[in-house]
Amino acid sequence: MALPAGGKVTFHPDGGWSFPDGTVFIKHFVMPSATPGAADRKIETRFIVKDQAGTRGFSYAWNAAGSEANLVMAGATFTLSAPDGAGDFTYAIPAASACTTCHLAAVNDGVLGLETRQLRRATRYPDVAGDFDQIAAWKHWGLFDAALPDPSGWPAALPSPDGGDGHAPEARALGWLHTNCAFCHQPGGPAGTAMDLRMATLFAANATCDVAPQRGAMGIANALLVAPGDSATSILYQRIVAASRPPRMPPLGPTRIDPDGAGLVRDWIDGLDTCPTP
Ligand code: HEC
Ligand code: HEC
Repeated sequence: MALPAGGKVTFHPDGGWSFPDGTVFIKHFVMPSATPGAADRKIETRFIVKDQAGTRGFSYAWNAAGSEANLVMAGATFTLSAPDGAGDFTYAIPAASACTTCHLAAVNDGVLGLETRQLRRATRYPDVAGDFDQIAAWKHWGLFDAALPDPSGWPAALPSPDGGDGHAPEARALGWLHTNCAFCHQPGGPAGTAMDLRMATLFAANATCDVAPQRGAMGIANALLVAPGDSATSILYQRIVAASRPPRMPPLGPTRIDPDGAGLVRDWIDGLDTCPTP
């Protein structure tokens, strides 16, 4: 992230943080090599620019040598070899005009990942020994415009999807859905259905369990958004693993289904006995 000169970040315990006009967010995509010990391959570098004109996105695709990156306004697809040995797959860079389908101006000015839940964890910084808390680091660098409220009132960090921090399958699945789906699936969002996949909304109240889908049953008899114990009739899961778009979710973005994320949602649903009481 690059802030404009003198620009500061406004911290909000819940929801996304606020950033001054002129802030640029940068995200690098690299792929580990299938050959052990070989260098990672640079794929693309994405920029989200937030200024008076609104929020806009741009992607630069790296050449195979990783020596130069070029702006791709119209989007691009190319074939890459999966590092996990799953073979070749099509990698897609969305057109610049498609960035704001997810980076929605109405949702925190289109800044999706920078929030207390996601940044309340330690990371490794260059030239600092060991892991360091990210919010403490931002505070140390003077990036916030005011003193931070007491951490006892902050929401907990999102559960680690791999279960490394000991969270139950439900919390891990809901955390994954929060990050990957909730910016479209929340009240007032573009999906236009009742389902609310934000972490702050309890499972008992998120309009999924024992709730009939509003946008089609994918040909599945007795389909529900979440059918306890049965991912086969649960549209929330079936939309994630559908063979093509539509109906696969998210409606754009990666061409490969995320096996880990899909597995989290499946195992959680299959392990449910009943719906929680609201
Ligand atoms: C399918 C939805 C989707 C599309 C399309 C998409 N993004 Fe994102 N992007 C996300 C999500 C979700 C995050 C936050 C990830 C997280 O929470 O860790 C993100 C994060 C980012 C970030 C870090 C800042 C932030 O908002 O958290 C940048 C920079 C970014 N995307 C650039 C782009 C650009 C440029 C494009 C278009 C070429 C694009 N994105 C298209 C979903 C999308
Ligand atoms: C870019 C916005 C966007 C993102 C991101 C997105 N969705 Fe959707 N979703 C939609 C829209 C729009 C619809 C309604 C159109 C349709 O049925 O395809 C929808 C419909 C659905 C439905 C059907 C709801 C019903 O009541 O029938 C489910 C289930 C769903 N999405 C799950 C997900 C999951 C799971 C994710 C994350 C992996 C996700 N979506 C990410 C926009 C999005």
